[in-house]
Amino acid sequence: MPAPDNNKGLGYITNALAAPVSPVEAALRPLSFADFTGQPKTVERLQVMVGAAKRRGEALNHILLSGPPGLGKTTLSFILGHEMGRNVRVTSGPVIEKASDLAGLLTSLEEGDLLFIDEIHRISKTVEEYLYSAMEDFRLDIMIDQGPNARSVRLSIPRFTLIGATTRAGLLTAPLRSRFTLQTRLDYYDIPTLVGIVQRSCALLKVELDAGGAKEIATRSRGTPRIANNLINFCRDYAQERAKGKITQSVAAAALELLEIDAAGLDEMDKRVLRVMAENYKGGPVGLGTIAVAVGEETETLEEVHEPFLIQEGYLQRTPQGRLLTAKGYAAIGLKSAAGDQGSLL
Ligand SMILES: Nc1ncnc2c1ncn2[C@@H]1O[C@H](COP(=O)(O)OP(=O)(O)OP(=O)(O)O)[C@@H](O)[C@H]1O
Ligand SMILES: [Mg+2]
Repeated sequence: MPAPDNNKGLGYITNALAAPVSPVEAALRPLSFADFTGQPKTVERLQVMVGAAKRRGEALNHILLSGPPGLGKTTLSFILGHEMGRNVRVTSGPVIEKASDLAGLLTSLEEGDLLFIDEIHRISKTVEEYLYSAMEDFRLDIMIDQGPNARSVRLSIPRFTLIGATTRAGLLTAPLRSRFTLQTRLDYYDIPTLVGIVQRSCALLKVELDAGGAKEIATRSRGTPRIANNLINFCRDYAQERAKGKITQSVAAAALELLEIDAAGLDEMDKRVLRVMAENYKGGPVGLGTIAVAVGEETETLEEVHEPFLIQEGYLQRTPQGRLLTAKGYAAIGLKSAAGDQGSLL
């Protein structure tokens, strides 16, 4: 296999089709497994696969990373490229419109390269079918011309690794899903792990922080490193403008109050969902589509971003009849549940 190009800057990223990443986000992105904390099961699975592929001198098998936004899917795919010493080519499902787009991407890869397809659940049906033979047999049969002149041309492509990322694993078709050797889901981070991430980010940004400040930011980050990093940025500005530059517990709390992020990390939309359920639908059960209309948000966004956290933390329950607000959900918006103090409406 050809040697990787070590001069491509941050983690061998080679494509402009990817969404722009802010310089701060890029600076804080862990580049190796050693730098990446949390997600122990996923990390161990990936380390096993990387270790084995390297020992055998083979390309890594295809991997599907799923989970809510901001938990590290893109980060892990760059880490995989870095650990394998290979290029990562970045694109996203909706960008690959035609089979020829896919052919262009795949034929430009080198043996062992990684192709990262973000939002892979949004790939078109036709492109998806071409992807099957590319993933399995490393070939593409492309039709050229139309009518009586139509003929199929077979393209051989280098053995590559497809890393798919999705916030909606459930929307992937079974045939596509089954072509990934490993399907692994990222979960929200616990507070101690987030404390570590906050401390690491502050050290990299040279921001002064004490243990209380780290804990306060971690608790209000909705289990999500991207949110933690965003909150650090605001707390840093706040500390500089309103305090003596250091993020302490009270400085962080005051800064995040100003952003209306509550002590448990719930944001405006999370609370609006809880409030609509309590006030308009007596706590449910109510369908997600109905809630979406009432709060003025896309059903998809509620399902991908808001609901998983609210369910995991016990503010909501999902039932066959619809979503139910729990006693904890009522408490979060300063109300008491209709069922009294039983802890749940069920
Ligand atoms: N385990 C971690 N340790 C430290 N920082 C992390 C970790 N996971 C993610 N981050 C930080 O969070 C930011 C967001 O992560 P990333 O872009 O990988 O999320 P994602 O899962 O791809 O989100 P999306 O679904 O929105 O694309 C990164 O810039 C990175 O700095
Ligand atoms: Mg991403």
